[in-house]
Amino acid sequence: MKGLSVVGLGKLGACFAACFAYKGIPTLGLDINVDFVDAINSGKSPVVEPGLQDLIDSCESRLKATQDYEQVLTESEITFLVVPTPSSQSGHFSDKYLQDSLKHLSEALKKAGKEYHLFVITSTVSPGSSEDNLIPLIESVSGKKLNRDFGVCYSPEFIALGSVISDFLNPDLILIGESDQRAGDRLEAVYKACCENAPYMARMSLISAEIMKISLNSYVTMKISFANTLANICEAVPGANIDDITKALGADKRISPHYLQGALGYGGPCFPRDNNAFLAFAAKYGVDAMLAKSTDSVNEFQTNHLLHQVGEHISNSNNNVVSILGLAYKPNTPEIEESAAKKLIEELIKRDLEVIVYDPLAMDNTRNHFGEDILYASSVRNCLSNSSLCIITTPDKEFKSIDDSYIIQNPTIIIDCWRILEPSRFSERVRYFGIGIPSGGKS
Ligand SMILES: NC(=O)c1ccc[n+]([C@@H]2O[C@H](COP(=O)([O-])OP(=O)(O)OC[C@H]3O[C@@H](n4cnc5c(N)ncnc54)[C@H](O)[C@@H]3O)[C@@H](O)[C@H]2O)c1
Repeated sequence: MKGLSVVGLGKLGACFAACFAYKGIPTLGLDINVDFVDAINSGKSPVVEPGLQDLIDSCESRLKATQDYEQVLTESEITFLVVPTPSSQSGHFSDKYLQDSLKHLSEALKKAGKEYHLFVITSTVSPGSSEDNLIPLIESVSGKKLNRDFGVCYSPEFIALGSVISDFLNPDLILIGESDQRAGDRLEAVYKACCENAPYMARMSLISAEIMKISLNSYVTMKISFANTLANICEAVPGANIDDITKALGADKRISPHYLQGALGYGGPCFPRDNNAFLAFAAKYGVDAMLAKSTDSVNEFQTNHLLHQVGEHISNSNNNVVSILGLAYKPNTPEIEESAAKKLIEELIKRDLEVIVYDPLAMDNTRNHFGEDILYASSVRNCLSNSSLCIITTPDKEFKSIDDSYIIQNPTIIIDCWRILEPSRFSERVRYFGIGIPSGGKS
């Protein structure tokens, strides 16, 4: 296979480029951030993602980076675009950065004298973007014709930060929206060369793929909000246990166990934005997506629900220091965007409470956001020992080791949102609470 190129070497793009090169395909990355280009060229990972540095180490000279769009066009036959698509106030995704990069690529295409080039949009876009904005832009700047001189696919990945590489190499499905069959065939061949499993290849029109992408995440968020509502009900019902119920529900093929845990609301760079984009897209066509709206309200409620619980515990104790373990929106990532902990800390600060925090990966991002407003612990033990009220907001494996030896303050209240601890490991100094189980421990 001739070379591939990846424009945008951020959290996703750097991983994709490294995966292609790891699979033996010469890959050229491009980013407007020169530090990311330099990092790739000196064999360093530009972003934090488990397994990425190992992959880059194995790529040898197959992985390079540049800031030269003409080099991208001449050295590759397919270009993946993985640049940011921030959400606007209305919920739609902006394709400004896609347009910026496609303008440069189209100018290079005009000069390149190539027979054919394939552009693959991987960034999340609002339905309609490819045909309404991006393809007309490529045609007008390059003077070339769609499906004769170039093809376009929309192929977003269904990955999660923290497991980007394994998700990319072993996907459940590959989504390919295609401008024509040739474009789809070429992209499918790339995935067949890279995937370590045999995923379902979902090929369709560009617009169908654009709708499918946001529908999937909107559906998953609905499932999370359902499980969270169920957890809140279980908390109030003596003898009920959320884990027993969701385990059984998930065993039914129509439901599946994934994202059905009952804990905190969803966050991160995708779920909240994709659900809102689904709402905005429906509204554009005169449809009120009521389920998506409720999903969003339930998600907001879930943080307030936790805050209410914290408030009750604070008012019943004379300690006003709250410790928080878990700052990212999920384990194995430094990303704190829309994380439950971030929202919680903001509210606790407003209430003049002192907050001490710890996370294995997200300390720098948290420090950049909150500065001197909160205290930063050096370890799980250090965080827990400084407060008599601890909230565990992510099911990080590092927190699972907490046992009675970590407990200094008597009593210590632990709110274990994901129920990762075994309450029987604690002495009576600990008052254990979990979301979805009646007060005082496992039912
Ligand atoms: N992060 C996720 O979990 C995730 C999951 C699914 C989809 N997505 C989508 O993937 C896309 C990329 O997300 P990300 O998290 O990798 O973003 P990111 O911000 O981590 O990385 C984007 C990179 O693109 C570069 N860039 C910006 N404008 C550019 C341009 N004109 N030319 C070249 N490079 C440019 C930036 O410098 C940055 O390095 C977004 O559309 C996002 O919605 C992200």
